[in-house]
Amino acid sequence: MKLFPTPSGDVAWRALRALVNERQVLSALESIHDDLGDVFQLPLPGFNAVMLVGPEANRLLLVEDRESFLWRAEQDPVTRLLRHGVLVEDGEMHDTLRHELNPALHRKMIEGYVEAMWRCTDQVADQWRDASHVDMLVEMRKIALLILTKTLFREDFTPKIKPLWQTILRTLQYISPGLWLLWRGVPRPGYRRALQQMDAYLYQLIAVRRAALGEPSDLLGGLIVSGMSDSLIRDQLLTMLIAGHDTSTALLAWATHLLSTHGEIQDALHAEVDDVLDSRVPTLADVNQLSYLDRVIKESLRLYPPIHLGSRIAAREVEFQGYTFPPGARVLYSIYLSHRHKAYWPDPQRFDPDRFTSQNSRQRLPYTYLPFGGGPRNCIGTAFAQVEAKIVLARILQTFELNSVGKHVRPRMGATLEPHPGVFVEMRRRHA
Ligand code: HEM
Repeated sequence: MKLFPTPSGDVAWRALRALVNERQVLSALESIHDDLGDVFQLPLPGFNAVMLVGPEANRLLLVEDRESFLWRAEQDPVTRLLRHGVLVEDGEMHDTLRHELNPALHRKMIEGYVEAMWRCTDQVADQWRDASHVDMLVEMRKIALLILTKTLFREDFTPKIKPLWQTILRTLQYISPGLWLLWRGVPRPGYRRALQQMDAYLYQLIAVRRAALGEPSDLLGGLIVSGMSDSLIRDQLLTMLIAGHDTSTALLAWATHLLSTHGEIQDALHAEVDDVLDSRVPTLADVNQLSYLDRVIKESLRLYPPIHLGSRIAAREVEFQGYTFPPGARVLYSIYLSHRHKAYWPDPQRFDPDRFTSQNSRQRLPYTYLPFGGGPRNCIGTAFAQVEAKIVLARILQTFELNSVGKHVRPRMGATLEPHPGVFVEMRRRHA
């Protein structure tokens, strides 16, 4: 039996320091991967996990042997928060929930969401004065929250943004990686109150809809008609709210950061948006015409995948490339490292949307690029997120030029991989 490679000596010490000092986690993982290859054990006392990288491992975990890996880890904060949400369930329960949630996120429903997507973008963008400096991490969160609640809950979130802002950030902080990995008893100040506020909002939403149920034409209506209890509906709504807005926030914020720092790419996008849309509002048909924007979004997701890591627990003994995972072992698959794997991506640190021309994409090995995961547990919101990103960015680019104000930005592992300390840009009106 092969032993899992573990960083030793100097590398171990450097890696441990980097992992504790959250700033350098990703670069530490990159250098461990360079040293040890596609399978390695993390050097964290109290958190025994094996990291897998690359297409073979991704295919094993997500498709070929997926029945041997469970999602749910009872003690993890994300399970405690989402309770019986589709994201943290396994087996039959997972499949039943996914079946109930699917219709509202199906490709054919997305056309009906496009208007809400550009209207919510306008609502936030109308506040940006010419030449003002804004933090795109904050602004994109507002847009993503407004869109998600408007389309899936038929709710105008505007009056809730302020009162629930800190609540949402605290909830996200609770599920972010942190000291709880090493010490389960770590206190979480403010979390209990945040959870109460979140629950009060969601249960009130459910009660109002139960009292006034018409056609189940959105996700919330569909869940009520399915006969689920309030508690189970709350778990699905919170799952959608968290998984569906924080990821899009990160993608949109990273994309604006990359555009503000790559002027020639932004110029090309302005030209495409002007050509396809001129000044009219975008439709779903337009989305398919915006091919350069599509490549920019794909490349943003490659460099900064909002979900950069997936976690599973081996349900039984699993063999992989001569290694044995015992039942109960924690196995992680790193989307971030797969997306920067030197064997599959030339010059992997460079922002180059042309990696995603149709010819280049055709030549790529499956499971080297997986921003939305893969297999039957892939992201249920993929189509939603792809259209949303295009509509929001196209709408902003119709009106604005984004200029970097030169503040250093680095990836930070929160609930998603987000730009830290934010994305500060100068918004210039193009046709002032
Ligand atoms: C850029 C945006 C998004 C990215 C990058 C993303 C990424 C992912 C990834 C990688 C997974 C699989 C995780 C794993 O293997 O453990 C996932 C699952 C999931 N995502 Fe997304 N997501 C995005 C947007 C959304 C949206 C908009 C929604 C809902 C409206 C959503 C809801 C979910 C749910 C519920 C799951 C769990 C699916 C299941 O277990 O069957 N996501 N997402």
